[in-house]
Amino acid sequence: MKAIRIHRSGGPEVLQYEEVPRPVAGPGEVLMRIYAAGMNAADWRARAGFPDVPEHLRPNLPKPSIPGSDASGIIEAVGPDVTEFQVGDAVFGMLRFPQTGRTYAEYTTAPMADLAPKPAGITHIQAAALPMAGLTVWQFLYQDLAAGQSVLINGAAGGVGHLAVQLAKLKGARVIAVASGRHEKFLLDLGCDQFIDYTTTSVEQAVREVDLVYDAAGGAGQDRLLSVLKRGGRLIPVNLGNASAERAAQMGVTVSTNHPRLHADRTQLLEIAGLIESERVRVAVETVFPLAEARQAHELVERQHVQGKIVLSVVE
Ligand SMILES: NC(=O)c1ccc[n+]([C@@H]2O[C@H](COP(=O)([O-])OP(=O)(O)OC[C@H]3O[C@@H](n4cnc5c(N)ncnc54)[C@H](OP(=O)(O)O)[C@@H]3O)[C@@H](O)[C@H]2O)c1
Repeated sequence: MKAIRIHRSGGPEVLQYEEVPRPVAGPGEVLMRIYAAGMNAADWRARAGFPDVPEHLRPNLPKPSIPGSDASGIIEAVGPDVTEFQVGDAVFGMLRFPQTGRTYAEYTTAPMADLAPKPAGITHIQAAALPMAGLTVWQFLYQDLAAGQSVLINGAAGGVGHLAVQLAKLKGARVIAVASGRHEKFLLDLGCDQFIDYTTTSVEQAVREVDLVYDAAGGAGQDRLLSVLKRGGRLIPVNLGNASAERAAQMGVTVSTNHPRLHADRTQLLEIAGLIESERVRVAVETVFPLAEARQAHELVERQHVQGKIVLSVVE
């Protein structure tokens, strides 16, 4: 089969389109014909060797390896002990995270527990865009959010952010979306109550007294976002940033550090699929690249200004 592999850490140029053996499903696994593979920031960080993670904590990715966690496709074969799926079922999921799910390929094997039936009424491209971003919003925001709370979403136009805006609105929260100006119409159409262009407006001067900050942008500006919280408020750092628990405590707010690590969860995936099928949430895909052009896709995602998601198309 064809797959993208990396033989060493580095820039997008280390992504190689190669012929590799087709995997075989083991016990509790299915063999999946991948129709589309969604891209995530975790993919390029892993490819680059996790440069922003302290050296002693860096995961050691085996080489060569096939990148990718998110996929949508059709079950081609089932391994021993698989009772829940059959050949021909359309499925999607975030596979084997935090190890690689090996989804930049024509086929992969997937543990049954990581998969759910693909939502009806959307394409494989759209379904592949959902799992990691959707689960990140579900596990780090949606589960704990209460109606009537106010939430500022930083990095609101990206893969995680645009789903966070919609899921927070569904929960009955008041949503302030922070992104650069080109995303304003997109985010207002998704239902945010207030839009702030961070390139022209200082967020900490424009907003006060919010219950939650959900920070999908991270970086050096994170610590300034503490000042938009009301006393007792909480910053959820989805992306690494410089907000410190000590400074937060001085201000009477907290930085969430006690979330369990992002993990696959079929029940949550089914809930997300239900919201998509009933058209209460939509997933936006900015650009689709053929599998062979994973390098160009990484170059785009790595600039970190995507609107919605980037997806690799494996079966046209
Ligand atoms: N903790 C976890 O388990 C977990 C899981 C998933 C993702 N993540 C992390 O969450 C982050 C977001 O993921 P994603 O998939 O949504 O990434 P993404 O699609 O690349 O989106 C990032 C967004 O950030 C915005 N942005 C860039 N610089 C900004 C700034 N200075 N202020 C405000 N917004 C800014 C960009 O929009 P503009 O064009 O408006 O700049 C872009 O839309 C990634 O870094 C990823 O590693 C963590």
